Amino acid sequence: MRFTDKVALVTGGGRGIGRAIALRLAREGADVAINYFRGRETAEETAREIKSLGQRAHIVRANVGEVDALQAMIGEVAQVLGGVDILVNNAASGYNHPLMEQRVKGWDWTMNINARSALFSAQTVAPIMAGRGGGHIINISSFGSQRVLPEYILVGASKAALEALTRYMAVELAPLNIIVNAVSAGVVETDALRHFSVWREQPAAGLEAISARTPAGRIVTAEDVAGVVAWLCSKDASMIRGQVIVVDGGFTLTF
Ligand SMILES: NC(=O)c1ccc[n+]([C@@H]2O[C@H](COP(=O)([O-])OP(=O)(O)OC[C@H]3O[C@@H](n4cnc5c(N)ncnc54)[C@H](OP(=O)(O)O)[C@@H]3O)[C@@H](O)[C@H]2O)c1
Repeated sequence: MRFTDKVALVTGGGRGIGRAIALRLAREGADVAINYFRGRETAEETAREIKSLGQRAHIVRANVGEVDALQAMIGEVAQVLGGVDILVNNAASGYNHPLMEQRVKGWDWTMNINARSALFSAQTVAPIMAGRGGGHIINISSFGSQRVLPEYILVGASKAALEALTRYMAVELAPLNIIVNAVSAGVVETDALRHFSVWREQPAAGLEAISARTPAGRIVTAEDVAGVVAWLCSKDASMIRGQVIVVDGGFTLTF
C-alpha cells in the first residue's frame, strides 16, 4: 500500500476521471477528500465506496474557480482529515463554443476553474504539505493544450496555462519537497464529452473513430489515468518534476 497514512484531496472527485483517481488512491491506502461543485450525490456515492475500502472519506463543496472557496476547502480538509499530502487538481469546466461566440464571462469562468485554481490552491496547500515533510500536486491536463479541437479554444488555453503553471510550481515548491507534475489524458468516455455538440451528435461514431486511430487499440479509461496519477505520487517517480505525462495510448502521435 503506497499511500498508507496519506491524505489526498481530489477536486471534482465525485465522478469521471476524478472518481477513478480518488478510488485508486484509497485502494492504495490513502484517506481521500472529494471536492464537488454541483454533484453532491455522486460525491457521496464515491465517499461511500472509499469508506467501504476501509479508508476515511470527506466530501467538500467548493467552486474551485473562487479563491476564497478554494482556500476554505483546503482548510476544511486539513482540519477534518488531519492534513493534505496529495492534491489532484482534476476539476474542470469550460465555455465550449467556437472563437467567434466567446465572451469575457466564459473566459473568466474557464480560466479561473481550470488554471487559476491550481496557483492559489498550491499557495494554500504548500505550507500544510511542508509541515508534513512534503507532498505531491498533480494537475490534470488534456491534449487540447497543444492540439486544436472543436469548441475547445478556452479549455485548450486554460490547459496550456495549467501546464506552464505545473513547471513553475515544480521549481518553486521543490525546496519544500513538494513534487508537481501534470497528466495529460487522451479522450476518456465521461460526462464531459456531452458538453461538445460534435459528441452529442454522434457519440458512438466518435469513440469508434478514436479507438481505431489509437495505436494502443482502444480509448483511454479513467482507470488508466488514475494509475499514472498514483504512480507519479509514489517514491518511484520522485525524480520526475514539472512534466506533462501523456496518457493517450499513442493517439496524438498519429495526427
Ligand atoms: N474526458 C476526457 O476526454 C478528458 C480528456 C482529457 C482531459 N480531461 C480532464 O480530466 C479532468 C476530469 O474530466 P472528466 O472527463 O472526468 O470530467 P467530468 O466527467 O465532466 O467531471 C468534471 C468534474 O469537475 C467538477 N467540477 C466542474 N466544475 C467545478 C468547479 N467549478 N468546482 C469544483 N468542481 C468542479 C465536477 O463536479 P460536479 O460533479 O460537482 O459537477 C466533476 O466532478 C478534467 O480536468 C478534464 O479536462 C478529460
